[in-house]
Amino acid sequence: MRPAEFNIRRGTPADNRPAFDVSMLALKDLFVRQGYEWKLESEAFWQVMEPLVSHVAEHAAEWWVAEDRSDGTLIGYARSVERDGLFELSELFVRPDRQSAGLGKVLLDKAFPSGRGEVRVIIATNDVRGLARYYGAGTAARFVLFSLAGQPRPAATEGYEALRIGSEAIGEFAEMEQAVVGYARHADYPWLLKNREIYKYRSGGRTVGFGCFSETGQGPIVTLEPDDQPAILLHFETLAHSRGMEALSFQVPSINVGAMNHLLDRGYKFDSPPGLLMSSRDFGRFDRFLPFAPAIVL
Ligand SMILES: CC(C)(COP(=O)(O)OP(=O)(O)OC[C@H]1O[C@@H](n2cnc3c(N)ncnc32)[C@H](O)[C@@H]1OP(=O)(O)O)[C@@H](O)C(=O)NCCC(=O)NCCS
Repeated sequence: MRPAEFNIRRGTPADNRPAFDVSMLALKDLFVRQGYEWKLESEAFWQVMEPLVSHVAEHAAEWWVAEDRSDGTLIGYARSVERDGLFELSELFVRPDRQSAGLGKVLLDKAFPSGRGEVRVIIATNDVRGLARYYGAGTAARFVLFSLAGQPRPAATEGYEALRIGSEAIGEFAEMEQAVVGYARHADYPWLLKNREIYKYRSGGRTVGFGCFSETGQGPIVTLEPDDQPAILLHFETLAHSRGMEALSFQVPSINVGAMNHLLDRGYKFDSPPGLLMSSRDFGRFDRFLPFAPAIVL
């Protein structure tokens, strides 16, 4: 595909839905190529994702779209966010019939320019074209991210107290993200307060972690110590069961052994192609952290 065949321009709110539709086509194609069942229905999933996608778009560092020069349809897009020095590619998608022709590189160069960010991060799919590009963009794979899904069952979490928090305790949550991830994400906390229930977990007279729950997506979950991860996951199962939810899913870093073993013991299953956390250098303590699910940013 020659550059003359497409226009590149900055994204606008009106591009949110067409961009999402491109991401669905690209992901469905990726799943099918790898033999995974594609269960998402675009309209229903848009209802789930619209608040998060709109938030990421509104608070994007860079957002670029490519449109077909002949008919103006959106054929690809890329977006990034910057939270303090954490510079993260949130999305890069090219419509399947326009892939492998250099458009991904053009979009990546725009949305994820070299030299920007103290640490450069990508939650990558295992698409080899993307991986080749991301190494080229100065990042390296650090660990695998598994999506694990299961049926929520109520369970006791003895020794832990879960307290729903509001904006008054966001500072504490930010401090814990700073301690564990290395960065606080102040642009995201108002969204989390509005769209997810944020719980503070206490045990042995001290705060041990925070977790963000909703009926449409979980995370982030952050604890000072890895051993406290299972208690939060059990609390989420209890919440989900009480709301009549039939399934619960988490994005789990492969090095978060406590969460992995706990979820597998509870019968959770791997349900989509594994992703990779890629970054320009080692950072964070991901043995005690679960990122946003559905996966889009840390
Ligand atoms: C990933 C994606 C955005 C890349 O966009 P694209 O336009 O297809 O990619 P490009 O044509 O710019 O680049 C492809 C590169 O991969 C390389 N490549 C292809 N197969 C490869 C392989 N098996 N091993 C190594 N490199 C490979 C190509 O050689 C090319 O690099 P080059 O131009 O330097 O030779 C696109 O393919 C896509 O949407 N995939 C599905 C969704 C997805 O996984 N998105 C990533 C989300 S993190």
